Amino acid sequence: MSNKYHFVCKHCGHNIGDFKAWFEAGQKCPKCGKNFVDAKYDTNPEKLRDLIYTKDNVESLWHYFDFLPLDNKENIISAGEGVSTIDRWTFLEDFAKKQYGINIEVYVMRHNFSNATRTFKDIAGTLGASVLKECGVKEYAVASTGNTANAFSHYLAKAGINLYVFMPEDAVKENIASVSAYGEKAVVCKGDYAFAKKIAGEFTSKNNILMTIGNTDPIRVEAKKTWVYEWLRLIGKIPTAYIQALSGGTGPIAVEKGLDEVEAIGIHTRPRYISVQPSLCDPMTQAWEKAKANNFPEGWQQDFPKLQNPPTKVQTLATGVPGTYPVIADITKKSGGEIISFDESKTADVARLIAYKTQERIGPASAICMGGYFESLKKGLLKDGDVVMVNLGEGIERAPEFLAELVYNEDRVSSADEIHRFDRAALEQELWDAVK
Ligand SMILES: Cc1ncc(COP(=O)(O)O)c(C=O)c1O
Ligand SMILES: [Zn+2]
Repeated sequence: MSNKYHFVCKHCGHNIGDFKAWFEAGQKCPKCGKNFVDAKYDTNPEKLRDLIYTKDNVESLWHYFDFLPLDNKENIISAGEGVSTIDRWTFLEDFAKKQYGINIEVYVMRHNFSNATRTFKDIAGTLGASVLKECGVKEYAVASTGNTANAFSHYLAKAGINLYVFMPEDAVKENIASVSAYGEKAVVCKGDYAFAKKIAGEFTSKNNILMTIGNTDPIRVEAKKTWVYEWLRLIGKIPTAYIQALSGGTGPIAVEKGLDEVEAIGIHTRPRYISVQPSLCDPMTQAWEKAKANNFPEGWQQDFPKLQNPPTKVQTLATGVPGTYPVIADITKKSGGEIISFDESKTADVARLIAYKTQERIGPASAICMGGYFESLKKGLLKDGDVVMVNLGEGIERAPEFLAELVYNEDRVSSADEIHRFDRAALEQELWDAVK
């Protein structure tokens, strides 16, 4: 039994114990059967203050070891991930001022420097592999539309754990390849993500293999809650609006957990959650819009569509059956936030503008998120004085096929005479016009 942390059932308050007890109980509360838990730490919260407001160089997620659910540092499997980069993108502030007359601060959190697979899933990968090692788990399974697949296969391979990754039929082939290149098992299921999850459930229960419980999995939540610590460490404040691309919703759930924790050190503000779905897979937006139109009737959180084979091209955000909607719905409503969609035919436009202005090449899920910033302005969701945090989960490295879509300044020639001279400055207006 750990004397550092324990899980408490969010539904009935039962003390479930540590990860070993949680796994033995079948990853659900032995008392009420629900599977949404809170990790509680016995460490003095003042220690958290010291870790956050450190002057030292922070090297990885494991800087926050005292507030992560692992007992023994010897079990850490790390590739130096989890140190966030937060940039202030003043060109986005200028745009808000010029176009909409509001003064806001815009920060962008990037994760493409993460050493393992260059997405924000690496932090769950390092925590997952370390926890599983500590618990002596030899086989594990995840269902994933892409980035989790990569991150978990990287880290579990490092830990020597066999991993089965269940992916939908149209998963990006580079994702399938990298799982398999690490020597882990890519199981491509002939159907959509919901179908892959179903096959994964059948396989793991038949063979008694431990599988992630998905977006509320404490492995994922405890890893991503550290974003809140990183905001405080790097910019010294909690944003008033948090924009993220939304698939299953681990992000907002984890941010809420981080904010619960920092209350112990006197931080009591919370952002409005503005979650962004791709237009061709936006069941949560549809549900939210319907609830709003009907003035949030009794039980509205349970009313959401289940999209079969959503035709989105942004595979990392292809959760058509959003089981976590009731949780996300409540978090969004309580915060005064919104769930919106971004027209996915415009992702390349957004990514081009960002690359032009910052030389950062963002991946498709990040382009949905960034598009959500422009959409939020258009819809009047951002207000004078807001401090906006845009969490870009992936760089272009994860999506070579998307990079190919970004070409726009190209001449194909057979002679030097066919080349058009150009002026880089003249390109800019067109890039802005495309996202306005
Ligand atoms: C880059 C990126 N952005 C956003 C998301 C959405 O994350 P979630 O909805 O689980 O918070 C994912 C993963 O699904 C992702 O890989
Ligand atoms: Zn319970």
